Order: sequence, then C-alpha cells, then structure tokens
Amino acid sequence: MFLIERHEVISSTNDRAKALASEGKRNICVIADRQTGGRGRMGRSFYSPSGCGLYLSVAFAPKVHGEDSALLTTYAAVAVWECIRELTGMTADIKWVNDVYLHGKKVCGILAESKIDYTTGMFDYAVLGIGINVKKTPFPDELAAIASDLETETGVCIDREELTALLLQKLSDMEAAFETRAFMQTYRANCLVLGKEIEVIRGGERFAAHALDVTDRGELLIRVGDETRVLQSGEVSVRI
Ligand code: BTN
Repeated sequence: MFLIERHEVISSTNDRAKALASEGKRNICVIADRQTGGRGRMGRSFYSPSGCGLYLSVAFAPKVHGEDSALLTTYAAVAVWECIRELTGMTADIKWVNDVYLHGKKVCGILAESKIDYTTGMFDYAVLGIGINVKKTPFPDELAAIASDLETETGVCIDREELTALLLQKLSDMEAAFETRAFMQTYRANCLVLGKEIEVIRGGERFAAHALDVTDRGELLIRVGDETRVLQSGEVSVRI
C-alpha cells in the first residue's frame, strides 16, 4: 500500500519521491497532473502535459539485492502491460528494458533510480517512476512519429483514476511477485526485441547484436559474433 501525495504541477515526481525517500519516507507515491521537468533514461526528458497522462513515482525499499535492480523495471513494465490489457483488451509490446509500445509507438516509459546500502548490497530505497500517455496527447513534432497515447492506439478513453488504482494495486504486489518471478514469463512473451537483430547503445559504445533472451533477473542475453553477453543496462533499438 502506498500513501499518495498529489500535485497539480511539479518538476519531476521522481525528484520529489527521491527527496521524500532521503528523508526516510517509504511506501509513498507522488502523482502529478503535469511535470515541467519530467525525466527519462539516458538524460532524456519525458513530455508530461496537463490532463493527458499518468505521471507517478513510488518510493519503497525492495527486499531484493541491489544487483537485481533490473527486476524493478521489468516488473513495472509487466504491471503496465497488464493494466493496458485489462482496461482496453489490447496486447502491448515491451521493449527491453523500460518502454511499453502499442502499434510501434511508445505509450509508457519507466525510470528506476535507487540508493544502495553498500555495506549490505541491498536497497536503501528505490524510486520507480512511471509515465503513461493516457488521453489524446498533443505531442510536439519531434515526438509525434515515435510516441502515442492509449486513447489513440486503443480507442478506449481510460479514466486516469481507475488506471492509477489498478497500477498501484499491482505495484503493491511486487515483493510477493519477486519470490516466484512468474511475471518474467509475461515479460519475455511480449518483449519485442527477442529473436531480433538489435543495436545496443551502452556507455560510449554502439554495436550490433542478436537478442536471445531475458533472464529471470531482467538482464538481456545477447549474441555478439560468437560470444554471448549479458546486458544489465543500456539502450537497444531494433534494426530494420
Ligand atoms: C523513459 O522514457 O526513459 C522513462 C520515462 C519515465 C517518465 C516518468 S513520468 C513519472 C516519473 N517522473 C519523471 O521525471 N520521470 C518518470
């Protein structure tokens, strides 16, 4: 269960949730109608206009090892995937590791940030930020070709409160789900990069690979030439 803090406008719900977590707060959820500085991975921004999306961040202390941090993002991606299926009947695609797509366009991004206790290797806290484009969204030109929203792609106008309640219920079940990791089957079955030729961007590197599998720890197994490698983080794009 999460205690909810709501804002009409905020810079970034992740920043607010991190500030609360560093004050010692746990199991808290920050929600905003609009973000002026919504952040994505790789230093990107996340377009967060008023009245269109669900922008929320939860701060909690996951009881898994810090090395398993990819599990937080994969669980959240499956939770969003299930919400979309339950509320619209449509099957979305998950792009390793943190994006949810419908008809080839991104409708949701997930940003996990954490503080690890280096004496134990466990999480001091984690903040999981989820941005879902729900209602018809007036994307700027540079995003219109790659991003979309649930209303446009499914024809269903989802109530944001209903989506919030369903998503928070699923996020509350996370610790129990980490025991069996059964959700990873849903992740793999709907992961759009598996079996494909991909381009990996990691640190300053950029290289071609073949995506083989996603492990139970949320890592991407890739083949590069004759070598099999395990990716814990990074950005991949499917090569056409
Ligand atoms: C990405 O696309 O790389 C991740 C986007 C994550 C966006 C969400 S919106 C709520 C939370 N607050 C932020 O500043 N970012 C996340």
